[in-house]
Amino acid sequence: METTEQSQIVESTQVKTIRNYYQVHASFYQATRWSFLFGRKSLLHLLNLPMLSEKTVVEVGCGTGFNLSRLAKFHLNLRLIGVDISPEMLRIASKRLESYSRRVLFLEKSYEPGNWKLPGKPDVILFSYCLTMINPGWEDALQRAYDDLEEGGMIAVVDFQDSPYTFFQRWMGHNHVRMNNHLLPVLKKHFTPIQLEVHQAYGGLWSYFMFVGRK
Ligand SMILES: C[S@@+](CC[C@H](N)C(=O)[O-])C[C@H]1O[C@@H](n2cnc3c(N)ncnc32)[C@H](O)[C@@H]1O
Repeated sequence: METTEQSQIVESTQVKTIRNYYQVHASFYQATRWSFLFGRKSLLHLLNLPMLSEKTVVEVGCGTGFNLSRLAKFHLNLRLIGVDISPEMLRIASKRLESYSRRVLFLEKSYEPGNWKLPGKPDVILFSYCLTMINPGWEDALQRAYDDLEEGGMIAVVDFQDSPYTFFQRWMGHNHVRMNNHLLPVLKKHFTPIQLEVHQAYGGLWSYFMFVGRK
């Protein structure tokens, strides 16, 4: 069996970089991200889950639990799994969802093809402003989502799409975000689109998209 020490050695640079980033950012994440992570509530509407649905939803890169807490509150029978690499973000999420702990599971894992499995096949896999931070590895994460879902399962993604301004792309790059229209073509290739919206933020400084697709 692999020891913790050995798994730390094989941990990717992406994981280390992002974990360190959120070690600093976790404490002010909720106070700041509402001003630019647009479309998260809308994506959950587009997903259109029935209120009494008994399905399982996995959020990859669940962060501080913004989406999971809404799903837990408005969908009384959903089973929820939050996957994230940052212990600081997960600590905030699990406190936030304390009253729903009976049906919420948090996993401190990197979402990539590998040696850990989800407990069963989820009905929905959600990525909310996570895929643009998995560089490299976003294609592998999408491949894993495809493999983890049942036939007919759904993927829901909200994320940055693009910016016409190089300075802005560069600034986002400093914050480990890649935004150059790389996600949508691949999502459309692997999943049948059910919902797709692209919106502008701050008069066109950047665009973001919401995608719901079926395997
Ligand atoms: C911008 S935050 C989004 C958090 C949350 N989904 C939201 O909408 O507020 C991105 C999250 O993805 C997580 N993340 C980045 N790479 C990951 C990976 N390879 N596997 C799992 N989570 C990852 C980060 O730790 C972080 O919590």
